[in-house]
Amino acid sequence: MTNKYHSVKPIRGEGERQLFIETYGCQMNVNDSEVVLSILQPAGYSLCDSYKEADLILINTCSIRDNAEQRIWGRLDLFRIEKVKRRGLKVGVLGCMAERLKEELLIHPAVDLVAGPDSYRSLPLLIESLDGGSKQINTILSQEETYADISPVRMDKNGVSSFISIMRGCNNMCSYCVVPYVRGGERSRDPQTIVEEARVLFQNGYKEVTLLGQNVDSYHWTNPDNPTETTTFAMLLEMVALINPALRVRFSTSHPKDMSNAVLYTMAMYNNICKHIHLPVQSGSDAMLLKMNRKYTREQYLERVAKIREIMPDCSISTDIIAGFSGESEDDHRETLSVMREVGYYTAFMFQYSERPNTKAARRYPDDIPPEIKSARLNEIIKLQGELSLASNKADLGREFEVLAEGYSKKSKAELTGRTQQNKVVVFPAGDHKAGDYVTVKIESCTSATLIGKEIIK
Ligand code: 5AD
Ligand code: SF4
Repeated sequence: MTNKYHSVKPIRGEGERQLFIETYGCQMNVNDSEVVLSILQPAGYSLCDSYKEADLILINTCSIRDNAEQRIWGRLDLFRIEKVKRRGLKVGVLGCMAERLKEELLIHPAVDLVAGPDSYRSLPLLIESLDGGSKQINTILSQEETYADISPVRMDKNGVSSFISIMRGCNNMCSYCVVPYVRGGERSRDPQTIVEEARVLFQNGYKEVTLLGQNVDSYHWTNPDNPTETTTFAMLLEMVALINPALRVRFSTSHPKDMSNAVLYTMAMYNNICKHIHLPVQSGSDAMLLKMNRKYTREQYLERVAKIREIMPDCSISTDIIAGFSGESEDDHRETLSVMREVGYYTAFMFQYSERPNTKAARRYPDDIPPEIKSARLNEIIKLQGELSLASNKADLGREFEVLAEGYSKKSKAELTGRTQQNKVVVFPAGDHKAGDYVTVKIESCTSATLIGKEIIK
């Protein structure tokens, strides 16, 4: 059988035309850009490192918050100037903003083509049609597209750690969130193609894969040829973990309402499934959680955390938090701070609420927290998280961890940087090691962001 998952590295400089891809937003978008490259390489494009060398610039966009979109409009203004300098340069907008703002984007003078997240297969055709001089658009959301048969060309620099999308879209309808509108309904990818992709990455020297989905716990695949054969996320995790004990498996994102004990027990059973769960809480207040349509209470969330701790005492937990959602009182905000303390997150992604047009929140709930209060609350959250991160790192002093080295530290080639299973960054003297090695490191000091240690030879 010929292996269609052969080309894991980008082809540079050999194609007839140069392609520059700029990616914004989540890991899913990073992986989508890799899918796009795999689709365009056979059409004669090769990747270049600067938009100044490109014949085609593609911006893979994010709509999650207004500031993400504002940055992209800024980039388009820059590319417009570049187009005046270089005739023949084409610019395309991909991703979530392409889906949300199709027509508005198409009339921007920099933009030649707009393609939403489910229409990347049509890119070669759309690009070819640009030669006729007219702008092109395809933003049709699909119920089926999972790009299951496409093996993404890996654009990551380290060659150690890679993303695999296991599903697309989202059915959760959190009231603040634009994702279901720009990425469509949830679809799970054929597990065999996922396992095959992970296996080929491992054969090519990768040591870690992160399984990606908006809500991995609702991964559910039914064999179309045999509807009694189904695969759950816990089963998929096990299948990937069994590829090789030297391949680390991570996943993101878990939804507190769906994270099953079966997933936790599977994690506990396999040493190579990393003991880290990203479990977005969003708010610690029941009133806010209800309005956000998160479908769990603070108590139910804490019950999930207790279960994680019971089954895997060594598992780290990170989270996402939104400050200043509609109607958030000072007391609601205090509840968020208290849930953070109660869980003791080792890290968090923290945001001010940004109203997204046409979401349920935008239609029903006023964006009524003044910007200065949103920002003061966010600062308080960030400050607390700094303290929690430091406390979490201090608790690791003197402990030994298996670290997967990912590359040299920013400061020096004498030091490597890597991560523990718990997803904490560790810096240590490189010795004879290189990226891709597993190294046992004893932690000697830390900051709130980094553990610092030395190899322990056993
Ligand atoms: N405003 C602020 N943050 C948001 N997120 C999603 N939508 C919004 C919004 N409208 C945050 C959530 C989510 C993360 C990916 O982005 O915390 O978990
Ligand atoms: Fe990712 Fe959501 Fe941003 Fe789209 S809108 S890129 S799914 S974070």
